[in-house]
Amino acid sequence: MNRHVAIFGCGNVGSSLAHVLVTRGMVSELTLVDADNGKAEGHALDLQDANIAFDGNVTIRANDTSAMLRADIIVVAIGPKVITSIDRLDEFNENSAGILELASKLKTVGFTGIVLNITNPCDVITQVLQEASGLPKSRVFGTGTSLDTLRLQRLLGNLLKVSPSDVHGFMGGEHGDSQFVVWSSVHVANRHINSWDIPQGAKDELERQVAHAATAIYNGKKCTEYGIAGITSKICEAIFDDSEKVFSVSVFDERAGCYISHPTQIMRSGLGMRFTLSLNEQEQIKFDGSAAIIRKFVNQ
Ligand SMILES: NC(=O)c1ccc[n+]([C@@H]2O[C@H](COP(=O)([O-])OP(=O)(O)OC[C@H]3O[C@@H](n4cnc5c(N)ncnc54)[C@H](O)[C@@H]3O)[C@@H](O)[C@H]2O)c1
Repeated sequence: MNRHVAIFGCGNVGSSLAHVLVTRGMVSELTLVDADNGKAEGHALDLQDANIAFDGNVTIRANDTSAMLRADIIVVAIGPKVITSIDRLDEFNENSAGILELASKLKTVGFTGIVLNITNPCDVITQVLQEASGLPKSRVFGTGTSLDTLRLQRLLGNLLKVSPSDVHGFMGGEHGDSQFVVWSSVHVANRHINSWDIPQGAKDELERQVAHAATAIYNGKKCTEYGIAGITSKICEAIFDDSEKVFSVSVFDERAGCYISHPTQIMRSGLGMRFTLSLNEQEQIKFDGSAAIIRKFVNQ
């Protein structure tokens, strides 16, 4: 079966994703598009070399917009010329022009695939993309707090000295500073978090560390790419495999009136069943606060 991913924006994030998709043999076709033609071209040639090293059989193209619009999945990863702030909301104005241009192309051709957005502010940009393209909401979604959920697994696993894969939980709300741990539903090694006896202060500090994990990475290398590339590749895999695996992705929430993260099944046709978590009173206040931030940016 043909597995064609196009990446719109091939900077740190887009090129890292391209590398994972090629070297792990997850695609049969890869189309790279970037406003900087030379960058997309260079990555395509470099990846063609890697493809041979890994005995792959991937067709890799650069700057072919018509091919992008025929892809099964378009991953959106454009970014501003310079990321001057670590507040993701500050990127909105610069990124939205490129997003509206893409949306207009998707609308004109009647794009039939899935659009998976990474570009920040992730929830806001995903909503702008869906509204401007007119594509069904089931086929336009964002990576949301899927990356933050990996960070929750890492930090809580470290704290409790268990494997991150034994941490089951989700980060709720915005992919941004107002995100929160949905503590009421966290289980570690099949035990509810309340039975692990973690002091409230340690929980609060862990939540702060997850929400600001990007800052720690950004301070070291001025970008974050491998975590998001990893989880995005797994979402693409779930689409191609029609696996119905659940990820914390940014989806349209009718009650909140905006895109925001919920654990949702991913399948070949896009979004499947949504497993909205029942939140306690404090968590609901945090969720509503996050949704208000997203709505404010969408409506500005
Ligand atoms: N959602 C997440 O979890 C997550 C995680 C990490 C980064 N991000 C976001 O991903 C985005 C990309 O980050 P990065 O570090 O790769 O940035 P980057 O600056 O390295 O790359 C951005 C690329 O987009 C290209 N570009 C800009 N406008 C374009 C347009 N209109 N058409 C085509 N290409 C265009 C640029 O030429 C550049 O190559 C940012 O918005 C960043 O905040 C999101």
